Amino acid sequence: LFKHCFIFNELDSTNNEAMKSTYPHYSLIIAEKQYAGKGRSGRKWVSDEGNLYFSIVLPPMPVEQLLPLNISTGYAICDALRNYADVSLKWPNDIVFNNKKLGGILIETKFSGNILEKIVLGIGINVNQLDFSHDIKEIATSLAIITERQYRTEEILWQILNNFEKNYTDLLKKRIDIIEKWCKYSMNFGKMIKIHLDGEKMELIEKGITDKGELIAVDHFGNERKI
Ligand code: BTN
Repeated sequence: LFKHCFIFNELDSTNNEAMKSTYPHYSLIIAEKQYAGKGRSGRKWVSDEGNLYFSIVLPPMPVEQLLPLNISTGYAICDALRNYADVSLKWPNDIVFNNKKLGGILIETKFSGNILEKIVLGIGINVNQLDFSHDIKEIATSLAIITERQYRTEEILWQILNNFEKNYTDLLKKRIDIIEKWCKYSMNFGKMIKIHLDGEKMELIEKGITDKGELIAVDHFGNERKI
């Protein structure tokens, strides 16, 4: 799948780079560090050396496939990292260990009018970092902290890409067979989750995900909600 691979010492953000029109579909943009790494919801993604930061340029797909793409990418990463540590998923696509974040996915899209032109799928995994700054120490972790060893980031990258390729081609064929497996890896499966829904903070029990990638949870009355 990945015929073009571009490796940089440093970038502002691999997602920004991948958005440039010069990169053909299925290009892989990798940076050793980023000085303006982006997280979801406008947050920054601290991107020191020693970790994995990469983006994949994907051709357009129907917009309703973007959430399943998020879900199946999260699964691909978690399955690869499970070769090293007992990491879990947190819907929609956080990679966590003991409720501390180890990795995340940021999908960005480019539209021309209302036509989706390009998808950039960015992945960040904390691999070798041993120390995090004060503000994120309590919420961030890395593979090296969990397992007390260092890694070659390429080794982890290739495993993630292998898994990704399989799940992505399945997704394009509308074969989504990772739902059960996703639930097994989900840190909150069968547990209580607190969620803001319709302006209200609710306590629900996580029951699974739909094939559209929505989270299924039930309230105290047994009513099912899709989020
Ligand atoms: C999240 O908030 O969970 C998403 C984090 C995504 C970080 C990755 S690192 C590579 C790519 N480039 C960016 O600027 N962000 C993503």
